Amino acid sequence: MSARILDGKAIADALIQDIKQQVEEQRSAGQRAPGLAVILLGADPASAIYVRNKRRACETAGVLSLSHDLPAETSQAELLGLIARLNDDPQVDGILVQAPLPGHIDAATIIEAIRPDKDVDGFHPYNIGRLAVRQPLLRSCTPYGVMRLLHTTGVALRGLHAVVVGASNHVGRPMALELLLAGCTVTVCHSATRDLAGHVARADIVVAAVGRPEMVQGAWIREGSLVVDVGINRRPDGSLVGDVEFAVARERAAWITPVPGGVGPMTVASLLQNTLEAAKRH
Ligand code: GUN
Repeated sequence: MSARILDGKAIADALIQDIKQQVEEQRSAGQRAPGLAVILLGADPASAIYVRNKRRACETAGVLSLSHDLPAETSQAELLGLIARLNDDPQVDGILVQAPLPGHIDAATIIEAIRPDKDVDGFHPYNIGRLAVRQPLLRSCTPYGVMRLLHTTGVALRGLHAVVVGASNHVGRPMALELLLAGCTVTVCHSATRDLAGHVARADIVVAAVGRPEMVQGAWIREGSLVVDVGINRRPDGSLVGDVEFAVARERAAWITPVPGGVGPMTVASLLQNTLEAAKRH
């Protein structure tokens, strides 16, 4: 079997058009455009590309993007001061601080300083907690985007065995909570997991989010499964590759996401969706 491709780029473009229409309707009703403040510290090339994509998507959707590009040496106190001002700014519905942050800044302190109702990344412990108790508000963008991709397959997720490879705060953990909410039986694998290949081979759904090029081998993939690759790794020759060995996995899976053009655009679409929802509540 050769898998069908889960075209995240096309699905995200359609979602962004839908958000654009909702923004236009709000504006026609006399309301202001949703506002997203994007904070970038330093000049990490990958972060600069991600942030540029987010700002462009804002422009497409009619969301006001407020840029705060700061030097890498910005102190934690200065960053907290900016977040406090944005928390109080009625023009700002969402605040995003691009990760990774320089080593002198404590990411958890920064995330917790963002008002939960403006936490459009869905990283704040309040929003993760809401998802854990089945009352999601602002949902973590990548897992939310993955769920929307999975739903487009038309496959009923309830009762399926989902294996998440990677247990990070931003992706693996909220991903497991999303799949649990959808009625899946969930296994989370991480660096201490024994027999990773055996777990993956028993999965109806595999979500790989480890950040290691092709570490999930194609031969592990169960025939007819759904494979979602969150990884974006740059090879020495500059090409991009996911966490899954795509060429082999696609011969076994029923559905698979490409890298690039799979999960990445869905993360951005979810960010705009969260910003619109936050604006509606404000
Ligand atoms: N760095 C890589 N992905 C993300 C993301 O989704 N949000 C933020 N804030 N930083 C990131």
